Amino acid sequence: MSFRLQPTPPARPNRCQLFGPGSRPAIFEKMAGSAADVINLDLEDSVAPDDKDTARQNVIQAIGDIDWGTKTLSVRINGLDSPYWYRDVVDLLEQASDRLDQIMIPKVGNASDIYAVDALVSSIEAAKGRTKPIAFEVIIESAAGIAHVEEIAAASPRMAAMSLGAADFAASMGMQTTGIGGTQENYYMLHEGQKHWSDPWHWAQTAIVAACRTHGVLPVDGPFGDFSDEEGFRAQARRSATLGMVGKWAIHPKQVALSNEVFTPSDEAVTEAREILVAMEEAKASGSGATVYKGRLVDIASIKQAEVIVKQAELLAQ
Ligand code: COA
Ligand code: MG
Repeated sequence: MSFRLQPTPPARPNRCQLFGPGSRPAIFEKMAGSAADVINLDLEDSVAPDDKDTARQNVIQAIGDIDWGTKTLSVRINGLDSPYWYRDVVDLLEQASDRLDQIMIPKVGNASDIYAVDALVSSIEAAKGRTKPIAFEVIIESAAGIAHVEEIAAASPRMAAMSLGAADFAASMGMQTTGIGGTQENYYMLHEGQKHWSDPWHWAQTAIVAACRTHGVLPVDGPFGDFSDEEGFRAQARRSATLGMVGKWAIHPKQVALSNEVFTPSDEAVTEAREILVAMEEAKASGSGATVYKGRLVDIASIKQAEVIVKQAELLAQ
């Protein structure tokens, strides 16, 4: 219980974040033309060490040159354990145009990681007279990251979004899998000789959602590696949406439409949510706090649930 209101996260569409390596400028225009709400130009793990400098310059140029429309434009910098990240931040903040909205910090382990990047970004913004503050998004993809997830969500007013990075997370946790998200063959319950698969990402996802919702940050599901498996992607994305995440990464353009489909509330869901709100208005008018909708109980908590769906639909309709 708390007397403080839960802060609202940034009011922006974030259904799909499309990634592309900064070392592959030929796809930047295609990324800009995609239906993804967020673009993540990558300087980190999809770029080979020898290509880091070129990729950084490609990205800086593309931020100013390409028409990114109304998308949120983000660049994933290298991790704080690398020799590249300070140069990423300095060059981006000194040289990239104001079109840059956000930087993504990978492999964060605690609030001090955010503090360090915030200090550098704040100093350069002041020195260069940048008027648009850069937002932060982070990837939770280590044991330390998940252990300190709440302090990370609270670490800076720049914090806008937080993703689960399944591959690095699995490695850091010592999980016996090489899969990037989705069902894991050996993670099952046995009941009367039948296997029932469970979700090994569930705990980390709910921890991220809780930290994000507490501090007004958007919770996002990360990559699904097997881009040929559309149904597998849908199933993973639907679980994430059900748990409160607002979107998912696309690591191939094929995944953009799938992600938008899952994270856009369906017409039926929006109609039902509006009907619940009407039913509750009628209940309130007649002095009751609960009523029956389609044979089931709805009460004051149902108003809040229905409002989540209606607000999301209204945001996307803007
Ligand atoms: N964004 C936009 N367009 C992309 C794209 C992307 N991330 N990846 C590929 N395309 C384009 C290709 O250029 C090709 O376009 P064309 O039809 O005009 O020729 C089309 O989509 C089909 O591409 P395909 O041949 O199926 O894929 P690929 O072999 O070129 O690339 C990957 C596959 C996985 C290497 C590539 O999608 C990629 O680099 N993804 C992002 C990886 C990344 O950023 N990882 C970091 C986060 S985990
Ligand atoms: Mg990673």
